[in-house]
Amino acid sequence: MKREIIITEDGSSSLFVESIQEHFHSRFGAIQEAIHIFIENGLLYVLPKLNGKISILEVGFGTGLNCFLTLIRPEIQSYTLEYEGIELYPLNEKEFTSLNYPELLGQEYKPLFSQMHQTIWEIPQKINDQIILTKKCLSFTEVCFDSPQFDLVYFDPFSPDKQPEMWTQERFEMLYKAMNPGAVLLTYCTKGIVKRALKAAGFQIEKLPGPIGKREILRATK
Ligand SMILES: C[S@@+](CC[C@H](N)C(=O)[O-])C[C@H]1O[C@@H](n2cnc3c(N)ncnc32)[C@H](O)[C@@H]1O
Repeated sequence: MKREIIITEDGSSSLFVESIQEHFHSRFGAIQEAIHIFIENGLLYVLPKLNGKISILEVGFGTGLNCFLTLIRPEIQSYTLEYEGIELYPLNEKEFTSLNYPELLGQEYKPLFSQMHQTIWEIPQKINDQIILTKKCLSFTEVCFDSPQFDLVYFDPFSPDKQPEMWTQERFEMLYKAMNPGAVLLTYCTKGIVKRALKAAGFQIEKLPGPIGKREILRATK
């Protein structure tokens, strides 16, 4: 998959995939978008409801921005965290070393950002005493979890126009089974087809105000 690094309007980098004409993030700002959708309306919403332990699934690990923003949040210091990222086309070293997230979020986090990208795939890796990261290189369309385990899902594939197979009722039913009662799924996409598929899978959905440049986002609760 041929991708080029671009700079979004908040100064943070992102990727553009020419063959499908899709950006990884909003052109209005990768960091501001990720913080708004996944951290403020996802992580910070569920953390107070949990008891010292959180398990997160990300669909479309990509640049690792959502994972990185999660790992550096002071709020997670008092929790143990299991983070699982699914990605079919992992970034190569040239790509992830070109991203400016540590420069913008804190140079002290640079080793953590490298560690996050360099840990091997498929096997759970201890980031520190409190965090375990598992990166799986496979298609989300092949993923199957058979028991509830996740408290939070960052659902971040390409748009349903480009990847309809990722946004089906059947895929959301699989995620529903994989989530604990009260767990939430966040996504940037509010299309009717997505809302209908989420509802049919059993989720309760809420529309929330979007980040700069986007009117609304979705939070789906089990
Ligand atoms: C919108 S981008 C977001 C990436 C990431 N969350 C980030 O912040 O950089 C979508 C991601 O889904 C990945 N992807 C595409 N098809 C996939 C599939 N079938 N299974 C898993 N990941 C896929 C892409 O390679 C890309 O990294």
